[in-house]
Amino acid sequence: MKIGIDKIGFYTPHLYVDMNDLAKARDVDPAKFTIGIGQEKMAIAPLTQDAVTLAANAALEIIDESDRQAIDFVIFGTETGVDHSKAAGVYVHHLLDLQPQTRTVEVKQACFGATAGIQMAKAHIALHPNSKVLVLASDIARYGLRTGGEATQGAGAVAIVMSKNPKIMAIEEPSAYLTEDVMDFWRPVYSEYAQVDGKLSNEMYLSFFEKIWEAYQQKTGLGIGDFSAICYHLPYTKMGLKALRMIYDQGTEVDKERLLENLEHSKIYNKNVGNIYTGSLYLSFLSLIEHQNNLRAGDRIGLFSYGSGAVGEFFAGILQPGYQEHLHAEQHQKLLSSRTEVSVEEYERIFAATLPKDGTAYQLDDQNDPAKIKLSGVSEHKRHYVNSLAVKM
Ligand code: HMG
Repeated sequence: MKIGIDKIGFYTPHLYVDMNDLAKARDVDPAKFTIGIGQEKMAIAPLTQDAVTLAANAALEIIDESDRQAIDFVIFGTETGVDHSKAAGVYVHHLLDLQPQTRTVEVKQACFGATAGIQMAKAHIALHPNSKVLVLASDIARYGLRTGGEATQGAGAVAIVMSKNPKIMAIEEPSAYLTEDVMDFWRPVYSEYAQVDGKLSNEMYLSFFEKIWEAYQQKTGLGIGDFSAICYHLPYTKMGLKALRMIYDQGTEVDKERLLENLEHSKIYNKNVGNIYTGSLYLSFLSLIEHQNNLRAGDRIGLFSYGSGAVGEFFAGILQPGYQEHLHAEQHQKLLSSRTEVSVEEYERIFAATLPKDGTAYQLDDQNDPAKIKLSGVSEHKRHYVNSLAVKM
């Protein structure tokens, strides 16, 4: 039985800052951010958007009534959740009006969470072939103003419906994975901002890729020539190139050119959004299949997932006949092109704004946020969400 990605959606907030402006404000050569790091625009989340709303907005565009009835497992991958106890997916389950006989959990392992979700979904569907699983990957990356990681922030979510006989990509067995206890990037429970050893994080990413790719080849007998494209977790888009460079000479010149060309397509959304942590790999996959017209049904796509701390995995999928008809490319172009650019001063103001932490009631002004699902306020330590298409929570 084929199991994999049946539908895939994406959402990012309506605000962004231009990386050239950010570089100038930080007294850095803009080419460092746009070429050295490979980022053009950085998405900014206003207070009306959090990991819950981003995920719910991403899912809203793809699920229909039959999904609402068939989804019986919601897996929410995030490292920027809103509650230490309650799973963010429970809010999304309500906001999307999913049927009640559903398991809902939150999964955390830095940027790896959603990949764990995909593999758990696959196992669930193997046992329950008529089930569908909603995998959500949603994060807001925050390192802090004027920090080394500032240029690699971002915000957004990817939503994936997993099912049997998937319309977009069937996920293959086996995959290769690795865990090592490393302090390259982490966020203590008391901190709003991630701690990072930038140089070590780059080294660990590449070392994981090298080891896992080797293990994957041994397990499967596949090599670089068997892949039409390889998508990477993209904390910033140059990272994918660094990884691909490690292996592109293992194949022919034609393999190398194909993988390099497809890497360009797989970076387009990410360089305009920034790091969305656990959704980044899947945003890159979406960017590839919505921009590269010469991919065909039967093509094998490799996916490398890396979550600091650290856990990594390499797996692959086969594009399905007619997959192009099930994409929302136009909607995604519109989402990105209709965003509002803010100045660096405005970005700093939005970044510094926080919700009360003492239970004080606070109503958010959400008039300027065009999202369908928004955080409308907090009171008594509870978040209140609004879905303009449905009921208030
Ligand atoms: P930095 O010290 O600001 O930058 O840190 P740099 O000095 O290393 O320069 C970056 C690149 O720009 C270099 O290219 C320079 O040569 C180039 P490279 O050698 O790397 O190819 N450069 C220029 N290019 C053109 N014109 C110029 C110019 N000047 C310099 N004028 C760093 C950069 C990414 C480390 C920092 O932003 C950071 O710490 N970011 C956060 C950590 C991160 O993203 N790590 C990536 C791997 S870990 C990961 O992916 C997991 C993560 O997503 C978290 C999770 O799992 O949850 C982060």
